[in-house]
Amino acid sequence: MKTVVLGVSGSVACYRACDIARELMRNDCRVRVCLTHAASKFVSPSLFEALTGQPCLVSAFDEPEQGRMAHIDWAREADVVTVAPATANILNKLANGYADDMLTTLALAYDGPTVVAPAMNPTMFGNETTQASLRAIEARGASIVWPQSGDVACGENGQGKLAAVQDIVDATLGVLARSKTLVGKTVLITSGPTQEPIDDVRFLSNRSSGKMGAALARAALDRGASVVLVTGPTNTVLPSGATLVWVRTAREMLAAAMSHVGNSDLIFGAAAVSDFSPAMLVSGKIRKADGLPTVALVVNPDIIAELAKAAPASARVIAFAAEPNPDLEVARRKLEEKGVYAVAHNDVSDAGIGFESDDNELTLVTRDREVRSPRAPKIVCAHWLLEQTTLPN
Ligand code: PMT
Repeated sequence: MKTVVLGVSGSVACYRACDIARELMRNDCRVRVCLTHAASKFVSPSLFEALTGQPCLVSAFDEPEQGRMAHIDWAREADVVTVAPATANILNKLANGYADDMLTTLALAYDGPTVVAPAMNPTMFGNETTQASLRAIEARGASIVWPQSGDVACGENGQGKLAAVQDIVDATLGVLARSKTLVGKTVLITSGPTQEPIDDVRFLSNRSSGKMGAALARAALDRGASVVLVTGPTNTVLPSGATLVWVRTAREMLAAAMSHVGNSDLIFGAAAVSDFSPAMLVSGKIRKADGLPTVALVVNPDIIAELAKAAPASARVIAFAAEPNPDLEVARRKLEEKGVYAVAHNDVSDAGIGFESDDNELTLVTRDREVRSPRAPKIVCAHWLLEQTTLPN
């Protein structure tokens, strides 16, 4: 039996959390409800206790079991946390790591799969802060069950109505189902840019932010995999559940990835590896006064091609192809040149996707099919990519 922590925040739609709890129980889940103080003004904790047969938490000091810490116990024992309805206030708190009541404290102590179903006034929903918080929560891996458009309780019309109970239940059950798909598997990901030093202060690099690799790592963790993330320099927040290996140059990335390839079941080359590095590292700083320098370059090793050669026969290796156009010809060619199972074509001429952006759109090219992902946040594309490339357990 799976344990769902149902977080309920203070919206008029609170009463529908009762149906969500009951539906989840009908689907063989143990449901534990945690209300915000505002939600407890709309619906009594006793109602949820009667419906679920479990204690209901409200205050950060509620301790159903003497001597225990409920926010830690519930976070550890949850297979999924579903926050429905999620108000603007709770979204902004979740996005910023607040821990000022039981629900936010529990959420901060929890690092597993999360489902969030917002409900609020349409203007509050459209507010830049709310949207930024939602994007941040989604980028960290939460599944968002988007609110519907229509008449809302305050008399306005627009997007903000809590999604249908069945959609929230399906999203929660879907997250529970996928959380087992990579149990026992190891996923190796190269991510971010490389930096190839020219002298002690300058280097050759590129625009990769590491967001796509981080999203893949989160999605794989969400599905139960052990994840090794070999990353070039980046400011992107990386998932703490992954084994992180920080590198700088392509050669360091190759060495780090090669030391993990033997145990890997799925290998992704999301890194934007510099194809060239300076033939010589000048110590100190090249001076303008010394005249125009000539920087001779040498070709770097092809990391993903080397990984494909060294990977276990049962492993699947997936390269990316960052191309300045939508044409798939180069991706088809890279499939053969690099000896990989698939290539994810990324059209980086489109400013809304690819390098640095929060969204992406990929076309997966294998020897027998070519399929396109939705245009969506990188975490959604990452789950899509894992679905397309994961071997059945
Ligand atoms: O990091 P973000 O800002 O989120 O951006 C994401 C991304 C655009 C970097 C990512 O989606 C992507 O497309 N990554 C591949 C970038 C790239 O370098 O593509 P490429 O076509 O040059 O290389 C093809 C493949 O070979 C890639 O899997 C690359 O990791 C790999 N490669 C390339 C050269 C090299 N020396 N070694 C390699 O392993």
